Order: sequence, then C-alpha cells, then structure tokens
Amino acid sequence: MFESLQSMPADAILGLIAEHRDDPRPEKIDLGVGVYRNAAGNTPVLKSVKEAERRLVDTQESKAYIGTAGAASFNAAMQKLTFADAVADDRLVTVQAPGGSGSLRVAAGVISRARANAAVWLGEPTWANHVPLLGAAGLDLKPMPYYDTKRHIIEVDAMLDAFRAAPMGDIVLLHGCCHNPSGLDPTEDEWRAIIDVVVERELLPFVDMAYQGFAQSVDEDPFAIRALASRVPEMIVANSCSKNFGLYRDRVGSLSFLASDSASRDIVSSQLNNLVRTIYSMPPDHGAAVVSMILNDAGLKAGWLEEVDEMRERLQGMRVLLNDALVEKTPDNDFSHLVRANGMFCFLGISADQVAQLKRDYGIYMVDSSRINVAGITADNVDYLSDSIAAVV
Ligand code: LMR
Repeated sequence: MFESLQSMPADAILGLIAEHRDDPRPEKIDLGVGVYRNAAGNTPVLKSVKEAERRLVDTQESKAYIGTAGAASFNAAMQKLTFADAVADDRLVTVQAPGGSGSLRVAAGVISRARANAAVWLGEPTWANHVPLLGAAGLDLKPMPYYDTKRHIIEVDAMLDAFRAAPMGDIVLLHGCCHNPSGLDPTEDEWRAIIDVVVERELLPFVDMAYQGFAQSVDEDPFAIRALASRVPEMIVANSCSKNFGLYRDRVGSLSFLASDSASRDIVSSQLNNLVRTIYSMPPDHGAAVVSMILNDAGLKAGWLEEVDEMRERLQGMRVLLNDALVEKTPDNDFSHLVRANGMFCFLGISADQVAQLKRDYGIYMVDSSRINVAGITADNVDYLSDSIAAVV
C-alpha cells in the first residue's frame, strides 16, 4: 500500500538544520531554526537545568506513570509563571504537554470538540508550522493582517477591522510576545485596543507563548495574557519551555484553559485528559520535572532568571551589531526594523532570490521569507554576514 504515497518536501524551517550541517564551507552561518546560541555559537545546557538534572538523578525514586495531565507541581508552577494572580485559580486548568507544538495540538482537539465550525484567525504571517499543525487537527483557519513586510510595522488597524468583521465566538490566535517570524509585538496601548475588540466581539483568545522572558523579562512578557485573562470569560494559552529553559529536544510545554467558572473548568479538564489519552497517552516527564524543580526552588529559579536575562540581552546586542554593520556597509538600505523587534527573530526584508543567493554563494542559511534567528550572529561572523548581505541587496 505504501506505493500510493507521495514523497513530502522537507519542513521549511527544520530542513535548514540538515542543509547547514552538510555544507562544508567553514564560514557558513546558520540563521535558520529558532535555537539560542551563545557568543561562541554553541547551545549549551543551561546551568540551572544541569543542576536540576543532577538533583533529579539523585532523588528520583520511580519512573512509574504519572498520568495524562503530567505532574501537578509542574502544572501549578507554569500556571503561576503565566497568569500570576490575574485570575482566580478555580477558573484555570493547566496540563503538561510535549512542547509548545504538543500543546497547540491538544488545544486544537478541544476546540474542535467544543465548536466544530468555529474559525481560527491567524495573523499574516505567522509561525510556519501553525497552519499545517492546526489545519491537520481539522480546524478551519482564516488569515488576518498582522505585519506589513514592506514597511515593517504591525497593521493594528487592519487587524482590528478583521476582528470586528469576524463572527462572534470565533477564535483569534495571538503571539504572547516575540512574534514569530517578525519579532514585532504590539505596544501595551495596542494590546489594550486589541483586547477591547476581543471583548466587544466575544472572540476567544488563543495565545501561543513560546518566548516568555525574551522580550522584556519573564514577569513582564505575559502582560497581554494577564490583561486578557482579567477581562475575558474564556481563553487558551499554549506555553513552550523549549527556548527559555533551552529544553528543545526534551519537549516540554504546558496548556492552560481559562473557563468561565469552576464547573466549566472541570469539564474542560476532563476533556483535556481524555484527548491526551487518545493522542500520546501521557506527556514525557524528564524535562518537565527539571522545570518544576527550577520553578519550585528559590535558588535555582534566581539562577535561571539570570540566564534568561543573559540570553535576551545577547539577542538584543546582536540585532544592534548587525544593524550598525549594515548602516555602514549599505547605507541606502534601511534595516532599522531589526532593532525594533523582540526575541529571536525578525525579517531581514530581502527577496526569496536574495535569500537563495546568500545560501548558494555565501553559505548563509535563513528561512525563505528572510526570517533570521539573530542568535546565529556573533562578533566573529558579523563582518562576513554584513558584507554578504550588502553584496546581494
Ligand atoms: C522556529 O520557529 O524556528 C522554532 O519554533 C522551531 C520550530 O519548531 O519551528
């Protein structure tokens, strides 16, 4: 029966990992997949994670099943990290999930059970895997404006018009911070305007939070989530611990549902547990146990927060470094949007042909849309990178 299958193209983002790895040129640069790299170009295990892993190995007494929702201590800690005291605990349920993607997939399953015909509105552009992942789960996806790729600004008015035109009860997918791929987030005033329309149109916010701590700080970045939670009856938040804990391959995430009251919360909770059992039965434990240990230990948490600050500051520094180099090397082109963005990503703002030329002639890898991961920039490669960009624009 397999002869009826067609070969599938490599994933637009993950395919770059292998392409870059197999490129023999020593000067090659990887600005593709969203993985943090330090000034030496490495992705080390965080110190707080290593210490928690050591303690876990020493103290863990069993690997018996925990259950479909994962560990209660992890779920409570992630809920606090995300919502703080914005809303009463008895309206919230949080389950552990295999990464942000696993969390999105479970959320999609609950959405289709709750309201099979609801549309989910996605900003254009959005993370390249949102459409395949949520679409494969059977959701009806609709585009809404988000980022003007020519002027490098958020199209807030057009986005609000789309919200006003959406049928009441539809779902809007929002990026909690560090918008992927543009890096451009609404200001607090813009968030307030967005939330007003979400409330007025009774839309259901579905927030993807994959970079908490990479915009301003771990505690400031959930501003929009907390502001929404204090005003809407229901919402969904998918968290990833891949980037801020550096636990990429361990697959750690959480999924929270805010319900209108505790009775509805309990029903949602039973649906989540039931759905998880039908997809992957139970989430992987190791990474979540590490996160739980860090968040529930004052010393480890303080160390982790410092490491997140360090990662964020390096990302901001690399944006400035590249923009300064480009101002010098190609003064007629404006790359100032690089320094207005948050988190790991922003668009370079060059054509797909120029992206292909950078790959072919210079060994510089980025997503076709010209999204770059600024963590791939270092003080050592910025000259080569900016010379190469200047040569193709
Ligand atoms: C990215 O956007 O590069 C990351 O979120 C990794 C991924 O899974 O796509």
